[in-house]
Amino acid sequence: MNETLRQLRQRALAVIEQAGDLAALEQARIDLLGKKSELSGVMKQMGKLDAQQRRELGAMANELRSELETLLEDKKKAVAAAVLEQRLREERIDVTAPGRAPETGGQHPLHLVLDEIKEIFVGMGYEIVDGPEVEYDRYNFEMLNIPRDHPARDTQDTFYVTDNILLRTQTSPMQVRTMLKGKLPIRVIVPGRVYRSDAVDATHSPVFHQIEGLVVDKGVTLGDLKATLEVFARRMYGDDAVVRFRPSHFPFTEPSAEMDIMCFHCHGEGCPLCKGEGWIEILGCGMVHPKVLAGCGIDPEVYSGWALGMGLERVVMRKYQIDDLRLFYENDLRFLTQFN
Ligand code: DAH
Repeated sequence: MNETLRQLRQRALAVIEQAGDLAALEQARIDLLGKKSELSGVMKQMGKLDAQQRRELGAMANELRSELETLLEDKKKAVAAAVLEQRLREERIDVTAPGRAPETGGQHPLHLVLDEIKEIFVGMGYEIVDGPEVEYDRYNFEMLNIPRDHPARDTQDTFYVTDNILLRTQTSPMQVRTMLKGKLPIRVIVPGRVYRSDAVDATHSPVFHQIEGLVVDKGVTLGDLKATLEVFARRMYGDDAVVRFRPSHFPFTEPSAEMDIMCFHCHGEGCPLCKGEGWIEILGCGMVHPKVLAGCGIDPEVYSGWALGMGLERVVMRKYQIDDLRLFYENDLRFLTQFN
């Protein structure tokens, strides 16, 4: 029996020696000291021995048991320390390494310029309002003095939802909606998305943005329109901005005009930016047609008004000399990060 324990001890020492990680050590503990272990077997056998032998062997077995326990425990600590050591070595943080700058978003150029435009008009006492993109034909065309057979409809290729409902081709229907509310005087700016069934190219997109302006009050004149837009142009393009008004035609304004700004690149000489014209078209405007006022329940004998419409993309393209409209919608960070 003495010999049995001695051999058992030798084998146990070898097992502990070989166990290289925490899992192997736990397995060794179960194998060597568990209920089914050889040592437990030996201890169970002792009942058959006489008292003297039992005492001696019992003491030896207990001693072996506690020796193995100590060895296992010590080895476990050593292995855990080694594991920690290795992790510390591998996961070391280099506090001198340069930091990685967090990626931050920025304003889209269309938004940046829209904010500027809004600020200019809010500063002049205008209210900013919003309107639906799915619109009645009546508001988008009919009540703006563009009946079914009017040629102006051909220039605004329309996405129809039903016979009477469409995706608005312009923000002008908000003139009608605002006037129909019946609250006077009116001084509003309406930015928003508009839709036309155009093929995509450098200057066309089926979705783009317009900004509508509408003023209705007693005694509003063409002079007010010109003065307001001159102020707008100077705030937007600088104090030395020079503008001119050219007669034009829109069915819902009479008289109608287009405002050009003197090319800020060549100062009227003519260059590639202004396509040799010396002037760049900025917006359409005019005095609200009496028919439109009357149709919205406003007496044209008492009230008058003026309206403006501009394309946001065009304004931004001019401001930053961008020659392809598609850049606005492709979300290429190389383009977008240049504005912030
Ligand atoms: N709605 C016109 C367009 O899309 C632009 C426009 C011109 C709006 C003159 C106006 C205006 O309010 O007075 O072509």
